[in-house]
Amino acid sequence: MRTPLVAGNWKMNGSLAENESLLTALLDGLDRVGKAEIAVCVPYVYIPQVAQMLKGSRVAWGAQDVAKEEQGAFTGEVSASMLRDFQCTYAIVGHSERRSLYGESDELVALKFAAAIEKGLVPILCVGELLEERERGTTEAVVERQLKAVVEHCGIDSFAAAVIAYEPVWAIGTGKTATPRQAQDVHAFIRGWLAEQSETVASEIRILYGGSVKAANAAELFVQDDIDGGLIGGASLNAEEFLKICEAAG
Ligand code: 13P
Repeated sequence: MRTPLVAGNWKMNGSLAENESLLTALLDGLDRVGKAEIAVCVPYVYIPQVAQMLKGSRVAWGAQDVAKEEQGAFTGEVSASMLRDFQCTYAIVGHSERRSLYGESDELVALKFAAAIEKGLVPILCVGELLEERERGTTEAVVERQLKAVVEHCGIDSFAAAVIAYEPVWAIGTGKTATPRQAQDVHAFIRGWLAEQSETVASEIRILYGGSVKAANAAELFVQDDIDGGLIGGASLNAEEFLKICEAAG
């Protein structure tokens, strides 16, 4: 059985004061949440604050990106071992905002995934199609291309220590959630594609759904066979809303 995971992606939001009240409220409400694992992926500069507040709790933390390099003259980058210094469990790689706004290619995402695995960070690999790609009927081809780049570079067995998040780009921050059927179909496709290479990896890996998940729609998504939790943007900035989503997963 796969343990559900609900991960918040704060994106570029927060302040010392806001984070403190958000995390305090989150920690206070945790006894309502069943067996789901919970994590927050926060801006780099807030990782020490979050690590200090969440230490010893059941909430894990991580980053929203990671450098492909290990160390050296790479101005502005943050390496996987630096994240491990602050006990990060996770690093998101290949989020659609990084792919589209910062030009990250499938190849670069694969190198970042490899750098995370190498240092014992769990990559949360984001895949998903644009609206025009869905309308053209190429959703599966796009997701397959994104997965294949990582499998070819890192090997299928590296996915034993990873999480995948399916995030249809048209559903991110738009209030337009994929229907449970649409999401389940792509999740099943991803699991089936992985199973052609490793039955074990396919049956054990957690595939999260992301894109306008809210307390009101979380349960109908999480009940689907191949949806193992969520990657939550906007709704993870509100403790009550995020806790309700965690409850729905647990
Ligand atoms: P929203 O939940 O705000 O749509 O964002 C989803 C997302 O991009 C999580 O990584």
